[in-house]
Amino acid sequence: MDRLLTGLQPSGTLTIGNYSGGINQVLNYQKNYETFLFVPDMHATTVTQDPEALRRNIRNAVAVYLACGVDVNLPNMHLYIQSENLYHANLSWILECHAYFGEMSRMHQFKEKSKKNENFTCGLYTYPILMASDILLYDAKYVPTGIDQKQHVELARNLALRFNNRYKGEYFVCPESIIPKVGASIKDLQNPAKKMSKSCENPKSSIFLLDPENVVRKKIMSAVTDSEGKIYYDEENKAGLSNLITIYSIFSGLSIEQVVAKFDGAGYGDFKKDLANLLCERLVVIQDKYNQIINSSIIDDALDAGREFTTKIAKEKYEQIRKAVGYGR
Ligand code: TYM
Repeated sequence: MDRLLTGLQPSGTLTIGNYSGGINQVLNYQKNYETFLFVPDMHATTVTQDPEALRRNIRNAVAVYLACGVDVNLPNMHLYIQSENLYHANLSWILECHAYFGEMSRMHQFKEKSKKNENFTCGLYTYPILMASDILLYDAKYVPTGIDQKQHVELARNLALRFNNRYKGEYFVCPESIIPKVGASIKDLQNPAKKMSKSCENPKSSIFLLDPENVVRKKIMSAVTDSEGKIYYDEENKAGLSNLITIYSIFSGLSIEQVVAKFDGAGYGDFKKDLANLLCERLVVIQDKYNQIINSSIIDDALDAGREFTTKIAKEKYEQIRKAVGYGR
């Protein structure tokens, strides 16, 4: 089985955007790949976090993965927390010493986030290298994410190739992104020029997987569309409506064309009501499961098993790399 790896930062409650780019892809692939699914809690501290809230968000994130249908009973599923395995940070240092200042300065997400806060941390800058370490430690071949992480996976690929060339060996597997054809970037409901995110200031912009039903309905009904009143997909000229069609497609399993055909001739109001019903139906099931497991031992049992398994693999890989570089005796 080829290895597939991904993680979702516990920097807040997960959104339907995270579902589309991250969790949904894991659900689609989990039976066919050896899957490494983890909580990148160290990535979350590239910006200031309240420790209590961070710890709560880590547990919540795991409960949400499981509630969505991640199956830890599959023998090929490994669920773990990044900071519980010290090799992620150790390998990250080695990779930092092989990454160039110039290439790191070209990372889109860093450029965007560092503009918002002039006191950004060094961690925000080196974040994509830690991400490369997450991936390369486990010889992951495929990395399913939304479009926003594509450049980071390319960096991981470049670092793997560079390292293999410099030390003349097949030390790292070169990873590839898997970006979904539909839903690679779910947009902000109030400003569809931006992606939907966990940390948006406007509460109407994002739908969280744990949002109550009435809140979901309100957010969908107030989502920005256009004044044409005709339902068809056109990302450029009808970004708001096209985003809602995309969300419908992800949660119904219908293609974009099928969604458009289903609502041919309908008004935006009816379409939005139907979309809100669809989302609520799915989210209620996720939330029921979430409530059943959030305080159960399933979470810790899965994380303990995941930590034990993945630490062994990471240790072996790290020892090889450490030797190649010439560290120690
Ligand atoms: P994060 O936590 O920002 O997002 C988690 C996943 O959700 C996807 N995503 C979206 N997809 C579609 N539409 C959106 N609006 C949207 N917003 C987020 C992201 O692309 C991602 O797949 N650096 C990563 C976490 C990470 C990681 C890794 C991922 C750390 N190490 C190794 C893969 C492999 C991040 O911040 O994702």
